Amino acid sequence: MKTIADLGDLRGKRVLVRSDLNVPVDGETITDDGRIRASLPTITGLTEAGARVIVCAHLGRPKGAPDPRFSLAPVATRLGELLGEDVACATDTVGESAHATVAGLGDGQVALLENLRFNAGETSKDESERGAFADELAALADAYVSDGFGVVHRAQASVYDIATRLPSAMGSLVETEVEVLRRLTSDPARPYAVVLGGAKVSDKLGVIDNLLGTADRLLIGGGMVFTFLKAQGHEVGTSLLEEDQLGTVREYLARAERDGVEIVLPTDVVAATQFSADADHEVVAADAIPADRMGLDIGPDSGRLFADTLADCRTVFWNGPMGAFEMAPYAAGTQAVAEALVRVTTGGHLTVVGGGDSAAAVRQLGFTDDQFSHISTGGGASLEYLEGKDLPGLSVFEQQNEDD
Ligand code: 3PG
Repeated sequence: MKTIADLGDLRGKRVLVRSDLNVPVDGETITDDGRIRASLPTITGLTEAGARVIVCAHLGRPKGAPDPRFSLAPVATRLGELLGEDVACATDTVGESAHATVAGLGDGQVALLENLRFNAGETSKDESERGAFADELAALADAYVSDGFGVVHRAQASVYDIATRLPSAMGSLVETEVEVLRRLTSDPARPYAVVLGGAKVSDKLGVIDNLLGTADRLLIGGGMVFTFLKAQGHEVGTSLLEEDQLGTVREYLARAERDGVEIVLPTDVVAATQFSADADHEVVAADAIPADRMGLDIGPDSGRLFADTLADCRTVFWNGPMGAFEMAPYAAGTQAVAEALVRVTTGGHLTVVGGGDSAAAVRQLGFTDDQFSHISTGGGASLEYLEGKDLPGLSVFEQQNEDD
């Protein structure tokens, strides 16, 4: 697939870079700038080459019209701080402000367009509407670089359609991410374990399906585990439960047993009276959750069990926190899994943390990026990659290779 070097001499050229700058924002405060930091190598590589860099990105899920709650202005400020120079921020995506901002760029300077999802064409299912927006984006630039790994699973104007309209290449972040994920899918060093958490099992069905054929061990925590516990016949109190997925989960459990994939579920959970840090909470056996309590974290025995299960692994992928880690009483399970991954990394083996939530969790708990082999910037994207799905933002480049 084409890389930036294939774009030739970029001095004075306007290069549109699609980054994933979808960071958690609390008011005007960015609570985890990991994705902004991850976007820096490509941006600085381009500025050093003398390009005029136009970064474009989305934040949250606005409904196709400007919405100040989702403005990228705070991101422009943070990007400027990290780059050590001002980043001009357009107040629209392809309108007057965007054109004026781009026209004002000198060689080696950087601007950020406003949230792409302020324009309905970005996410439209209608190819011509999306194409029209991609045409407008293309009119701003001479070349395009796809560097938002977290969005390569989206067939959106700035990810997919634009790559067919301008000389295009993949940025170094997408290259790195794909290289690491490829190590998980093609002949991973074994034992290969996958730790899955997060709220909903319905978000992870495809990946579980696929992993039952590739992983040796599947460790499950987070809100989704209660559907597994219920499928095993246990009562789960007021915990998160997806009744409609019970049949599928039972089928997964049977398949795992038949195919020799070890599914590891918690033996105990932290059960609280409500979803709140101040709620009355206690550790209970996973098969004895009281009717009026909800599980908000895996318990201490489970933390040890998960750590022991990971100890001899030579490849570990982790997506999704083990509990409501943002509240201190329910953070220990996520902490235990993070510590276990750090030990695997220290032993010289491959550990990959995937997903915005998991990445934010490990940073919030005080871990640093270099304690893991790789922290992926893509949540849905990394899961869909592991699922073996076609990712439009990658296949558009593969298609171009075939056409060349
Ligand atoms: C993410 O947060 O996983 C990416 O930025 C994609 O966001 P989306 O799920 O809103 O498309």
